[in-house]
Amino acid sequence: MLTMEALPMHRRAPDIGFPRGWYCVAESEKVTADEMLPVSYLDEQFIVYRGPDGTAHVADAFCPHLGAHLATLDGSISEGKITCPFHKWSFDGATGRCVDIPYTKVMVPGSVKLKVYPTREIDGMVLAWYHPEGEEPDFEPWSRESLDVDAPWIPHSTTFRESTCPYRDLFENLFDTAHVQQLHGSNFLPTIESMERTSFGMHARFSPPTGERFPVTGLENMFTGVSLMTQLVTGDGFGFLQSVSATPIDHERFVQVSRLYVRDMGSPELNEALGKPFADNTAFETDKDFKVLDFKKHLARPQLCAGDGPIMKWRSYQEEFYA
Ligand code: FES
Ligand SMILES: [Fe+2]
Repeated sequence: MLTMEALPMHRRAPDIGFPRGWYCVAESEKVTADEMLPVSYLDEQFIVYRGPDGTAHVADAFCPHLGAHLATLDGSISEGKITCPFHKWSFDGATGRCVDIPYTKVMVPGSVKLKVYPTREIDGMVLAWYHPEGEEPDFEPWSRESLDVDAPWIPHSTTFRESTCPYRDLFENLFDTAHVQQLHGSNFLPTIESMERTSFGMHARFSPPTGERFPVTGLENMFTGVSLMTQLVTGDGFGFLQSVSATPIDHERFVQVSRLYVRDMGSPELNEALGKPFADNTAFETDKDFKVLDFKKHLARPQLCAGDGPIMKWRSYQEEFYA
């Protein structure tokens, strides 16, 4: 079989920067109070950590003194105070303010700060706010707490994927209804019942699939901007929730993480019996998507025909988030 490389991104999609929004930079369980987690996203590097009260924070990885990466050598965090490995300046982890320089009494004015990003922790994700011009958040992420369900959501499985799909074309795939039949081989053509602009982004309702493996009665997607999406699948006596984040690493690739939750059926065996086929099927179909998406070009003016789904409607929503 041929091995093929994706064309470099500048040949497949013009660089229009990253959209403003809430980006998942870490899974909650990976973030602790006594260690900085170094991560590389959005063509930058960040550190993720917790304050003494457990609050998650995301900050620039580079010290404002002389630019050392704070999580190198013996860079440390203790009681919410970050100490740089290079000249041991310390910063308050919540505000970023410089609080100590061990070798001078002439304190640098309080204006010397480590950049701390607006951070939220929801649905098992640590989210950092990104704005191309550094502006403050103008919306809040959707959270599954807003759902009124009678049983808790039990985590089933988490899938990490790195993709070279043009970032702006990822969620568009959900509105490309024709590929559901043609690529996934579904015997049913989904229709989108509504696409509603909300405070967090968009709420889309799909007609429930018929004749599929799971007797689904409700299918809806909540988009936080264009970087997070939660899909709620409901049926008679069961429910699935898929919390999907997509965070660019740089202009060439992004990481997509998909976390599957099953509405508690009352026993681990039942949850597994329901969760496993759903997870396996999702992984199988998503792999198919990425086998195409990873190599595709972004076409500003695609040649659409009747039956193609509201792709341009999604794009006009998405454009709001690009500068
Ligand atoms: S570079 Fe961090 S203290 Fe000097
Ligand atoms: Fe698909």
